Formats: sequence, C-alpha cells, structure tokens
Amino acid sequence: MELFCEFRTVEEPKSDAIIIFAWEGAVSANKHLSDLDGWTDGSVSTVFDMGEFNGKKNQVVRLYPGNGIPARRAFLIGIGRKADLSLEAIREFGGAIGKLFREVSIPECTVFLPDSGKQSPKAAEIAKTVTEGILLGAHKITEYKSDYKGTSLPESVCISPSSKQSLKSADKGREIGEITAWAQNVTRELVAHPPIVLTPTKLAESAKKFASEYKFKCTVLGKEEIRKLKMGCLLAVNAGSDQPPRFIILEYKGRGAKKGKLCLIGKGITFDSGGYSLKDAANMVDMKGDMAGGACVIAAVSAAARLKLPIHVIGLIPATENLVSGKGYKPGDVIKSYNGKTIEVTNTDAEGRLVLADALGYAADRYDPSAIVDIATLTGACRIALGYTGAGYFSNDDRLADKLERASEISREKIWRMPLWEEYQEYIISILADIKNSAGKVGSLGTSAAFLSNFIGKNKWAHIDIAGMDVDIKGGAYITKGSSGFGTRLLVEFLRNW
Ligand code: BES
Ligand code: MN
Ligand code: ZN
Repeated sequence: MELFCEFRTVEEPKSDAIIIFAWEGAVSANKHLSDLDGWTDGSVSTVFDMGEFNGKKNQVVRLYPGNGIPARRAFLIGIGRKADLSLEAIREFGGAIGKLFREVSIPECTVFLPDSGKQSPKAAEIAKTVTEGILLGAHKITEYKSDYKGTSLPESVCISPSSKQSLKSADKGREIGEITAWAQNVTRELVAHPPIVLTPTKLAESAKKFASEYKFKCTVLGKEEIRKLKMGCLLAVNAGSDQPPRFIILEYKGRGAKKGKLCLIGKGITFDSGGYSLKDAANMVDMKGDMAGGACVIAAVSAAARLKLPIHVIGLIPATENLVSGKGYKPGDVIKSYNGKTIEVTNTDAEGRLVLADALGYAADRYDPSAIVDIATLTGACRIALGYTGAGYFSNDDRLADKLERASEISREKIWRMPLWEEYQEYIISILADIKNSAGKVGSLGTSAAFLSNFIGKNKWAHIDIAGMDVDIKGGAYITKGSSGFGTRLLVEFLRNW
C-alpha cells in the first residue's frame, strides 16, 4: 500500500473510489459533501434525510453517486463536530479508513482531508495523524492463520489535503505518520509472536535486522559476555530457561545530534511464568507480551533512524525467559546486580525489575546519559490501578515528565504520573541483603519504581509501566483486538521532540 499526497478535487477523474470526511450536522456544513450533493442529484442529502448518516464520529456510509462524478464509489466517514476536532478524531477517521480497506476491496482511492480552519491542528499534523490511523487500522497479523482469505489492501492511496498551499507540509506529515505507524506495527508484531517463536535470540535478531536496514548500531551480548559484565540479575532470571539470554544494545546517532545521550531501556522478558513464585494459568496466558517494553524500544530507535532525527539515543534491552527448572533461581536467593548492589529475591515473579536493574546500572555506568527512560510491563498493580486505559509513570525530573506528557498528548497514548515517595524504600529493606525485590502486594506499583531508583545513579530518569497495555482487550477505532503496540507512538513523539 503506497500512500502519497496530492491536491485533488472530488469532481476530478482521478480515483474510482473517494473517501470523504464529514462533519457532524447538515450537508451544508461540509463543502466537499455539498459539492458532491450538487453533482449527484442530491445523493448525499438523501442519506442525511433518511437518518442513515449525519457525520457522527466513526459512522461510515457508502454511496454510488452515478454519473455525476467520475468516481464510482464514495465513502462518507463521520468525524464529529467541527468545534471538537482533535487529532484523536482524525486518527479515528484514519482508523475507519484502514478497517474499511480490510473489509472492502478498494484497489486505489483518494482520501479527502478536513480543513480545521485557522485553528490547530495544522495540515501537517492532520496528514500525519490520518496516515497513522490508516496504517494502524489496516494492519492485521495473519501469518498464524492457515488459510487467511482477506481482501487485499489498496495498491495506492492518495491523501488530498484541504488546500493546495498545504500540500508540501501535508506530505511531510504523511511521511512522519507512516514511520510512526510502521514502528507501532513492528511492536504489535513482535508482541504477537508466540513465545516459542520469539525467544531472546529471535528478539535480538530482529533488532539486528532493523539496525542493518535503517543504519544504526546494534550489539548483542550473549551469555558469556553478560557473565563477564557481572549482570547477576539477568543471569539469575535466565537460570531456569533453556534459551540463552541476550543483552541488546542499540545506538543511533543522527546527523547534527547535539551533545548528550538519551538512554531508552525496555523490559525484554519473552515469557514470564513467574518462576518458582509461579503465576496461575489465568495470569500466565498473556505473558508472551512481557517483552513489549523491549519491542517499543527497538521500534522507537528504528523510527528515530528512519526519521533521521538529530539525536543520539541508546536502546538497551535485557532479554530472557523467566521459567522454572532445576536450575532456576529461587525465592530466598541473594543475587548481585551490575552496579554491585545485592538483592534478596523474595519473589521470582518480580523479575522485570531485576533485569531492568542490570540495564539501568549499565546505562548509568557506561553512557553518562542526559536522561534514562525505561518502559516495562512491570506490575499487575499498575493494571489494577489504571485499567486498560493508560500507563503509569514515575520520574525524578519535572522537565522530563513534561516532555513525556507532551508526547502523550500528541500520540494520545495516555500516561499518568505516580509518586516516587521516599517511604517506599522502607518497604523493600532486606534483613539479609542491600535490598529485596518485592514487598508483596501492598503498594506494589510504588515499590517497583522505588526498587528501580536504586540503580539509576544520579541520572534524570523516568519509568513507564505499561503492564496490561500490550494487549488491547476490546479493540478501538484504529487498533484491533490483540497486541496493541502501546508505548511506541509515545516514545516516537518523545524522540521527535527530544
Ligand atoms: N510481567 C508481570 C507484570 C504484568 C502483570 C504484566 C499483568 C502484564 C499484565 C511482572 O513480572 C510481575 O509478575 N509482577 C508482579 C510483581 C509482584 C510479584 C511484586 C505482579 O505485579 O504481580
Ligand atoms: Mn513476573
Ligand atoms: Zn514480568
């Protein structure tokens, strides 16, 4: 599916199918629609009059306009009231288009974009966001279906901005939107793979593939190297698994990058059984998605490279399975992390913070970063607190927090700041070792972040807990049920504004 921008008008003989946004309200509120109505003997007025369609969000209606215009098919898609136009409404409009492509065979088409008038959002943002919606809505993982017979996607989709003057900026927006959605779809696919397929080795291989394709550095450390580095936590979590661990290091330095490195760290547990602190069946079934944070980091760094952002970013992904076997680490074990701190393992299911501890310690030790941001499916408590609606995050730096909030607004991936209260440190005091990895259920979201803060050195840091967000349980306007890729757009926007 090739997307491109070109300024077109509805009556031009360019496309066999046209897709037109519609503001909620009367036909007269919509210039494209009233034009279309005029040329086609009132075909639009008829659907409005019959009450089939009035431009409410996500309503879709199909018209066969007849001889009035060259296009044989027209799809009207509602985007709600003009006064409430938000980027999210535009992304949903795109999503409706993407889903339409999955249901109806449309070999090529033109999409007409709304004009927000003098107020924001601007043409570039509109084109970017609609493109995101289209590509996210159209995306479907079919490789595990033995006889998938879906409609094939259009070969080409023309996106027509509301004015000729905005064509150039719209096309730039289209390009950014394509890369952003591509990155999110990368995460969705990585998360969707069954754990037998997506092992730590495989995760590292796909990181390598993106690195060579988009020209950034990727170094993969194996078990021996991890041992030499004394990453005792990653090794302990890995001990019960037959799959070797991987420590994936990505580095992208764009042209004109200012001084200062940003470190992104993603949890890469390719399957989390809980270890000896075993999960029950209902809580284990989605645990192939416990590498979603790592996938987000791989996708976001790849997107930064594709967008040629003028930044220097390091991505670190500690990857392993967390299983049980005669070799597995046990509750009660004391292990030593990369930064030398000893940890009493009170719960082998609190493995994410362990592997992150090594990665955070490594980032602090090796890179002297201007900021560290980690993203992880870390605690069931976060999902309990915020549901499937957004992620919780913590930060020791208000400016960094503001940047994340801004990225969240643009990407519409919701995040909510949680407190890094000093008192939580008391919860994780160990009698035997320097610290323990779990204090049980009470306060377990706060204590997880408190635990991580022991490994960040003096750095500015934020931790994003996306537990439960890696799968979409009901599907939305542009995401279907299944792996969601949540966190990717957030990180991409964050990097774009870094
Ligand atoms: N991967 C889980 C967290 C999780 C739960 C992710 C649900 C997605 C959906 C994590 O490793 C975990 O097991 N956390 C424990 C920590 C506890 C033992 C302190 C939890 O939250 O139950
Ligand atoms: Mn766990
Ligand atoms: Zn986990």
